[in-house]
Amino acid sequence: MTDAMNVDYDGLIPNNVGLSTDERVKKALEKWHPGYIDWWMDMGPEGFQEALVYLRTAVGVGSNGWARFDYVRMPEYKWGILLAPAVTDRRIPFGANKGEPVWQEVPGEHRAMLRRLIVIQGDTEPASVEQQRHLGKTAPSLYDMRNLFQVNVEEGRHLWAMVYLLQKYFGNDGREEAEELLRRRSGDQDSPRMLGAFNESTPDWLSFFMFTFFTDRDGKMQLEALAQSGFDPLSRTCRFMLTEEAHHMFVGETGVGRIVQRTCQAMNQAGITDPFEIECVRALDVIDLPTIQKKANLHFSLTLDLFGSEVSTNAANAFHAGLKGRYREDKLDDDHRLETATYPVLRPTDGVIQSMDVPALSALNMRLRDDYVKDCQKGIDRWNRVIANAGITFEIRLPHVGFNRKIGEFKSVLTDLEGNYLTQEEWAAQRDRMLPNAEDQTFIESLMQTSVGVPGEYAGWIAPPRVGIDNKPGDFEYVRIA
Ligand SMILES: [Fe+2]
Ligand SMILES: [Fe+2]
Repeated sequence: MTDAMNVDYDGLIPNNVGLSTDERVKKALEKWHPGYIDWWMDMGPEGFQEALVYLRTAVGVGSNGWARFDYVRMPEYKWGILLAPAVTDRRIPFGANKGEPVWQEVPGEHRAMLRRLIVIQGDTEPASVEQQRHLGKTAPSLYDMRNLFQVNVEEGRHLWAMVYLLQKYFGNDGREEAEELLRRRSGDQDSPRMLGAFNESTPDWLSFFMFTFFTDRDGKMQLEALAQSGFDPLSRTCRFMLTEEAHHMFVGETGVGRIVQRTCQAMNQAGITDPFEIECVRALDVIDLPTIQKKANLHFSLTLDLFGSEVSTNAANAFHAGLKGRYREDKLDDDHRLETATYPVLRPTDGVIQSMDVPALSALNMRLRDDYVKDCQKGIDRWNRVIANAGITFEIRLPHVGFNRKIGEFKSVLTDLEGNYLTQEEWAAQRDRMLPNAEDQTFIESLMQTSVGVPGEYAGWIAPPRVGIDNKPGDFEYVRIA
């Protein structure tokens, strides 16, 4: 347990993986570093690379105090390689090799599959930084700007985490993959990021908060599944990433919550009781609740696609091999092999959407997605409490899982928010009531024209947070803009 507690903070790359005595990997990472900085300068937060930002940096992996807060210029952030402490005598928790000692080296027969899992996870990390790079210019406060940049530098660190595994365990192939991770670009025609939702734009702050609520939460679920891996370095990497990831979802949940709160407050002050009086609400320069619902519909459905096909041989193989487990595998009470178990999968059939039992091994994506939906619902409930407390009759709801899907069982059907089938014509007629349209987008962007740079001040469409970061007072200068 002790090795991982000691973080070498002196070199170019802070780490607790013994880089100073691992010449080959140290050299490989030092060679990769300039390309990473080029990528960060090119694709990182636009216009704020010189600003001093009050950031947390991971400086340890112990349960008490793993982070340090201080002013940092983002390009000088210490992107370290940190693994959670090793668990003594850890055993492969699931699959065909369940109960055997975990692997400290890549098992030869699973090399390709493991590399693919790491590359896909790695590709999402820089993608969101690219998607969010313009948002500093329209931040509703220095507090929010700082949170955006915190998320960005940590996604950068998550890229480092995956690149370390590639460089350390996958030789030449790993080096090439590490280069490719810097070459692909979100939304690029010729070399896009690997997964759909990571090629969408994040045009405004409501989208950013929805993204961190819904899409970073997919990240959490994937990391949870990989944290169970029998390949111990991957497990330990993901376990530490999860401690940082929690803040990203906090940013999303409280961000949307504060927008909802401000809208309700403005409605109450103006004496508007009907949330669907959209023009009246918008005249108050706050975002109406139905538009917030539409954004949630969009980001939820885009994120569900990230779970892949509900029934998947790849997922079955990765589990069987002991590489990728289930959400909280170690807390589940079954045989952890799933060779005979079944799991219900939702499928569109003639006229009805039906639940059908399929072999549990092939339904692992469906299962992870189910766990994800439950996790989302908890945050949605908290938003709804804000609305209810304001005395307004409106409830934010997750749309049906078949709504607006491009991947999996529902990709070739059209449904409404409740999961009723729609024809092409019906979809076209109803689309604008279910998803943000150009007019909604223009309105949202009209509220977010500049950033608010005065400590303690907030744009009119969002409520201030209840507490500061690192317990700082309300007028703390989270970003010193150069
Ligand atoms: Fe991440
Ligand atoms: Fe994240």
